[in-house]
Amino acid sequence: MAPVTTLLICEDDESIRVLCQRILEDPARNILLAETGEEAVELYRIHSVDAVLCDVKLPGISGLEVLEEIRRLDPCAIVVIMTAFGTIQNAVEALKRGAFDYITKPFSSPAELSVVMEKAVGQRRLLLDNLELRRAVREKYSFDSIIGKSAAMQPVFRTIEKAAPTDSTMLVRGESGTGKELVARALHLSSRRSLRPFVRVNCSAFTESLLESELFVHVRGAFTGALKDHPGLVAAADGGTLFLDEVGDTGLELQAHLLRVLQDGEYRRVGETRTRTADLRVIGSTNQPLEELIRKGRFREDLYYRLKVIEIHIPPLRERMDDLPLLIKHFLERQSEKQGPRPDGSRRQFRLDPTALAILKQYRWPGNVRELENALERAAVLCEGDVIHPRDLPAELVRAELLPWPSQPGKGLLELNEEEQIRAVLRQTDGHRTKAAEILGITRRTLYEKIKRFGIEL
Ligand SMILES: Nc1ncnc2c1ncn2[C@@H]1O[C@H](COP(=O)(O)OP(=O)(O)OP(=O)(O)O)[C@@H](O)[C@H]1O
Ligand SMILES: [Mg+2]
Repeated sequence: MAPVTTLLICEDDESIRVLCQRILEDPARNILLAETGEEAVELYRIHSVDAVLCDVKLPGISGLEVLEEIRRLDPCAIVVIMTAFGTIQNAVEALKRGAFDYITKPFSSPAELSVVMEKAVGQRRLLLDNLELRRAVREKYSFDSIIGKSAAMQPVFRTIEKAAPTDSTMLVRGESGTGKELVARALHLSSRRSLRPFVRVNCSAFTESLLESELFVHVRGAFTGALKDHPGLVAAADGGTLFLDEVGDTGLELQAHLLRVLQDGEYRRVGETRTRTADLRVIGSTNQPLEELIRKGRFREDLYYRLKVIEIHIPPLRERMDDLPLLIKHFLERQSEKQGPRPDGSRRQFRLDPTALAILKQYRWPGNVRELENALERAAVLCEGDVIHPRDLPAELVRAELLPWPSQPGKGLLELNEEEQIRAVLRQTDGHRTKAAEILGITRRTLYEKIKRFGIEL
């Protein structure tokens, strides 16, 4: 599919507006028309526009103000300003404010306008490619930072490595906060598509009809000037990866459309009879029990099989607690980077006091890595100095510490908690009993008794 370019023309004089449209019309171009500057800015906001052609003199806000407003929305925006013959001063002013070029009316020939706009679109491509490259390099870094050395994570890494070079459809499953999106991005970045777009569609944030129009088409005629359809996210991901985040949250009607996209990369725009083909790799993610949804008739079985060609199950954090220290280190380092150096130039080095660490180790982490990341960010902000104490941790962690986990029959809550605390502190102090007793706030003798009673081996 040839790339679709979108041009936005803003001109209040109808005859010139129509003239520009005629000159620039082409099957591979969407042309949006605006009569006022306000309208142009609004259209720019909702469409992905490649280049703007804008008159200087407009009834409301001026062309120069449109230029500024659009460049504020999008620093890579490409705007060509039209000025009337003999008002060169306007053109100079426009260039100073960041216009890409200018053209004087009346045009010397139709070709003049075509050439200027071709150049504008070329410039836009260059800027975006450049941006995409830099982003890809940055994200490569974030692929390397999928933290985890535990045995439970090894199958995840192995599957990423094997599946990334292929175009197979993937389904990434895992509880909320386990790193599904991180894995999807890693798959994209290690694939041949890495320099093409990674387009994430948050299936749970849209209503059915809105999601459909975002994916396939922009609502026709919703705005004056929206003469042609917006290409939609499926087209935007052409050549790259389409990430259907939380695909288990979609309704049956949309699932039928998604199935078509998956089956042959085919999609149809609303109101169109012909189908279009996109070159896509689709990665879905879900934290839903899809098999159960299928039984209840809420998820299409055929879509399920299409999606799960290769499945990755990310284990919940509580099943890979060996990774906890690494993750803590990673997130605390990130916090010290984020907070920057102190006024005296020294770097902050966050660490956990033993009790705080013991609390993190005992917690069940229903919100998984995301919850851990948030708890540590909060703690790093709240703590005085660089040492994080229990009081800096979210209340639910400290409260949950009172619940036995894993639950053991025959032991009371209080006793179990006491035993867990003692074990945690002893682990922390490498079995140093004097230190442990101090931290626990009991005498050494009491500690010895309890070690014996609970049968703790040192
Ligand atoms: N193994 C990991 N190493 C480093 N960071 C991780 C890891 N797993 C998750 N994260 C971080 O935890 C946060 C949540 O991850 P992500 O958004 O990928 O999870 P998710 O499964 O999509 O969650 P949700 O269900 O909430 O959408 C992100 O900030 C991510 O960078
Ligand atoms: Mg997610």
